[in-house]
Amino acid sequence: MSNETGSDKFTAINEIARRRGFFWQSYEIYGGVGGFVTYGPLGAKLKQNIERKIRELFVNKLGILEIESSVIAPRKVFEASGHVNHFKEPMIECSKCNKRFRADHLLQEYTKISATETEKMSLEEIKQAIEKNAITCPECGGIFNPPKQFLTMFETTIGPYSAATGYGRPEAAQGIFVEFSRLYKMAREKLPFGVIQIGHALRNEISPRQGLMRLREFTIADLEFFFDPEMPCCHLLKDVESETLTLVLSEKRAKGSEEAISVTVKEALEQKIVSSEWQVFFMAIAKKLLTEIGVPPENQRFIEKLPWEKAHYATQCFDQEVYVDRWGWVEVSGHAYRTDYDLASHMKASGADLCVYKEYETPVEQKQVVLKPVMAKMGPAFKAEATKVADLLLKASAEEVATSLEKNGYYMVENYRILPNHVDFSCQETVVRGKRFIPHVVEPSFGSDRLVYVTLEYAYHVKDDRVLMSFPRTIAPTQIGVYPLVSKDGLVEKAEEMHKLLVNEGFTAEFDETGSIGRRYARADEAGVPLGITIDYDTMSDGTVTIRNRDSWQQVRSPIKDLPELLQKYFKGKIHFEDLGTLLQVK
Ligand code: GLY
Repeated sequence: MSNETGSDKFTAINEIARRRGFFWQSYEIYGGVGGFVTYGPLGAKLKQNIERKIRELFVNKLGILEIESSVIAPRKVFEASGHVNHFKEPMIECSKCNKRFRADHLLQEYTKISATETEKMSLEEIKQAIEKNAITCPECGGIFNPPKQFLTMFETTIGPYSAATGYGRPEAAQGIFVEFSRLYKMAREKLPFGVIQIGHALRNEISPRQGLMRLREFTIADLEFFFDPEMPCCHLLKDVESETLTLVLSEKRAKGSEEAISVTVKEALEQKIVSSEWQVFFMAIAKKLLTEIGVPPENQRFIEKLPWEKAHYATQCFDQEVYVDRWGWVEVSGHAYRTDYDLASHMKASGADLCVYKEYETPVEQKQVVLKPVMAKMGPAFKAEATKVADLLLKASAEEVATSLEKNGYYMVENYRILPNHVDFSCQETVVRGKRFIPHVVEPSFGSDRLVYVTLEYAYHVKDDRVLMSFPRTIAPTQIGVYPLVSKDGLVEKAEEMHKLLVNEGFTAEFDETGSIGRRYARADEAGVPLGITIDYDTMSDGTVTIRNRDSWQQVRSPIKDLPELLQKYFKGKIHFEDLGTLLQVK
């Protein structure tokens, strides 16, 4: 955090992003507003391609259902989910210039107090630490007022009624939980099943200064996976069980150590490091996703959250982190075991039944204690109220009444004292065919914009003083550049034909005839275009073109007629660059 303005990869990427049109701060003509970005043509395409990868790995292959719900929800939803009470950050205001800051971030920036420590500090402790370290306003040097908790949800009214408070959703998950009953029907009333939602979320961050890493409006990909806690096995575990995960466990973190261990998925379960099979399964897929968008496995890890760092709904939670130049390890996804917390909360608050029913394979015989009021004794004891007391007693748990009579010699129902001779107990055998229960949930959750940032950072390379954005070919925003060598002798028309052919084949191709071929290659390298196809005089005579590789700057010569098939294979990662044609010696 100390190097906010220094020349590092973050600065370089933001500069290229603005220049090439990946993204920039929104509302620039009005001075810009922190925490909001506009994705330009290249950035929007890159983001779509990353989200397509999420869909490929988490949706299509696993048969997850995808939905799209609204961004605004009534207050009741976020009261029930616990966000109204918990979604708060410590804020501090300068008494002189009134500028507001995240108090915990200031402490991390100006003292040696770590995020792990600030997370558990009370407002009073934060106040004392600010005073002890003599931290003043970074803008004007003014003294700070005492810190306060700030609710980071965007608040609005729904319609013209000031009492009808609504909030911008801070996560897409609640849009799934509130629709559970309907979605369960769509999943043919079978567990396990998962639902994903990739959409905008809003968090009114106090002072975001980290570009794509901390936005007030961002895209979240929340996947809620529902399963029966009595049948927690993941039937897909075999596919990932030998995958290695780098983990920093809470036990170590609590002692101030960041030491990581490397274990296979199988070992993580055997050693009870991760409590849910589905949770660790999704962690392994998340590692695959990050690797496929260009982050090497050695620059990825999962840290287990400490009890006071966990979101209010989670029992066990791991954050997937990626190492970045400016801040070190940063979170890109969260993997939380949410148990039945959300469904149970909405069930209680709304009154809707969000339980599922499961039929036992073999019905179970159960013995049940049944209670019967003895009216011949209760009548004289309770007189006109005897029937009312008997009704109240019938609503009580027979076991509870029996225990209390045995232990205390009486049982109180409201203000009535029930004695042993007022009730008879008998034992009834019933056949139970199934049971109702609330499913449990594990949630992998990705921040799309953070994925875009780490993709850009890991794609960024400098070669001979030139910037190359080496995006993996499966997510590059533009796949192929088409360049006529010169703008005469029919080369432009031939190149336009080539461009049309590629577009009709479904490639994202860009036609560029402006400037020298060297400048066009340099522009394409910065935009991260993996292949360039140049139309030259030989093309006109023999129907071959030169294909240039963005990363190695190698060139091959290929007949146009072979290209559609070869390029399809190349962009699916099935063949190498050298397989596209005959390698040329570049002078
Ligand atoms: N649903 C994940 C999160 O709120 O971060």
